[in-house]
Amino acid sequence: MCGIMGYVGPRPASPIILQGLERLEYRGYDSAGVAVADGGVIEIRKSAGKLDRLRQKLDESEPAGHIGIGHTRWATHGPPTDENAHPHTDPTEKFAIVHNGIIENYFELREELRASGREFASDTDTEVLVHLIADEYDGDLAEAIRAAVKRATGAYALVAVTAHEPDTMVAVRMIRPLVIGFGQGETFLASGIPALLDHTRDVLVMEDGELATISAAGIILEKLDGTPVERDHLDIDWDVEQAEKGGYAHFMLKEIFEQPRVVADSLLGRLDGSAVTLEDVKWDSDFEQSLEKIWITACGTAFHAGLAGKEMLEGLLRIPTEAVYAHELRYRDPIVEPNSLTLAISQSGETADTLAAARLLHERGSRLVAITNVVGSALTHYSDDVVYTRAGLEISVASTKAYTAMLVAQYLVALRLGQSRGVLDTARASEVAAALEALPSQVESLLTREAGIDEMSRYLATQLSDENDIYFIGRGLDYAVATEGSLKLKEISYLHSEAMPAGELKHGTLALITQGTPVIVVNTQAHVYDKTISALQEVKARGASVIAVAYDDDSEIEHYTDHVLRIPRTMDLLSPVLSIVPLQLLAYHVADARGLEIDQPRNLAKSVTVE
Ligand code: G6P
Repeated sequence: MCGIMGYVGPRPASPIILQGLERLEYRGYDSAGVAVADGGVIEIRKSAGKLDRLRQKLDESEPAGHIGIGHTRWATHGPPTDENAHPHTDPTEKFAIVHNGIIENYFELREELRASGREFASDTDTEVLVHLIADEYDGDLAEAIRAAVKRATGAYALVAVTAHEPDTMVAVRMIRPLVIGFGQGETFLASGIPALLDHTRDVLVMEDGELATISAAGIILEKLDGTPVERDHLDIDWDVEQAEKGGYAHFMLKEIFEQPRVVADSLLGRLDGSAVTLEDVKWDSDFEQSLEKIWITACGTAFHAGLAGKEMLEGLLRIPTEAVYAHELRYRDPIVEPNSLTLAISQSGETADTLAAARLLHERGSRLVAITNVVGSALTHYSDDVVYTRAGLEISVASTKAYTAMLVAQYLVALRLGQSRGVLDTARASEVAAALEALPSQVESLLTREAGIDEMSRYLATQLSDENDIYFIGRGLDYAVATEGSLKLKEISYLHSEAMPAGELKHGTLALITQGTPVIVVNTQAHVYDKTISALQEVKARGASVIAVAYDDDSEIEHYTDHVLRIPRTMDLLSPVLSIVPLQLLAYHVADARGLEIDQPRNLAKSVTVE
């Protein structure tokens, strides 16, 4: 995700901002920039690419000044270009802003501003905000920002400076993190603690809905409605590495815990009631009506997300849907129906096999949609449409938050197609949309509730960590989740695990079930619930030790299992977003109990760009 760094004090601002941005590099970015206010002007240097490119520009001509803001961008709206890099400025160039997150209603705001003759220099949602701030300005930056953010909806953090008030910067936190650091006669602001640690350990964490007016002497902290806020400072004793992981022991764990935010971001601005807006999807309603076949192609975790997508899309839309591993598909001779749609799913958008399979289907006439986490990645270049997953940079090789974001992207595609094709009536579409909207808080409660899933999976991990073989079973969507749960476990714990449809057990694998063999079952799908219970009885009868993932209100499951990992009740269709979470945690804790590396498992790469 984007990084923010700001400085006000006696020292030249640019080098301090650049150093802070370097500390935030681990979060990933595709462009960077700095704005410094001095002598009634704001000077901006920005560039697509890595910080070296920005450093070069600063070396050529460093803007002088003691107050400034900087940014590393992870593109969400518009590709990574110099124009789209932050900071953004208004037409008078008296205001500059950096921003992290998403302005949900930017499209309407931009159209409104355009109607009044405004021109925009970038494709970003951010630029809308700086126009609004400049419009509202009447001698007080904090007031102008207060008025501007009243008009913007979304989850974001922003910081602005103006040449009119060269001693202060103003920051607002709306869900996205911002921290303020206090030095001797100087003040720092950043999106993450690592950026501050070279200068200070005296830190204040802003909370949602707060506005800070920041000067070298200190800050005024208020709620957006002007109510003053008092908050104790923290004395940070983390080292930089701990700070980068947000206090978690590994990036994987941090990323698992980021999932409520990721699911929320993936929905932001895309659901209005049950109406779905996908900003980079260009197909028309004729195409939607004529659609006869859906292909899904991907590798690894993305393929497992696609397996869930296949079940869900076919079930909901009644359109034949096929999910095929990209490395298999690329060497087949697929029969591509004329009115077909391909969902190529790839976190990186760079996986060689996925690119090849997607191109093959595209060349044979299928419309191609990229579902990817990286704006401007190779896959997006030859796709007709893109649904970005907005998970932010994923550092752990074992993918977690990108998987849930891929699920959400497919739900949105399904909801849109289902309504336009008339297979989802208004009531059903509203039900799905409401259940989707509830997911972020359900994932949050799952991760944070007392005596929760994290403790339970840690406890179970101690029992599993010395096993040799672990089996995962489920049916339909639960089977899709089982495949991903099994992959998570094997790739980081190096234990052998296998996932299979619950009905397949008796055709071979049952021979391997003996006293104490661990079997993990996902059982959330009402229409096959009893069938899966029968499979459980079969493994129990042979002595298996069974762990189930089941809904909170399922009182039957415990009769057939040794332990239950509970998830909040949702529509069965959406359960994968919740049922995967305990399995991610279980895999994490097993690997941790075995004392393994976790974030960088042996022999594996985050992105496989060669065959
Ligand atoms: C590698 C990674 C997996 C990932 C797969 C596909 O194997 O280790 O975590 O699922 O590639 O990557 P993609 O970027 O295409 O989603």
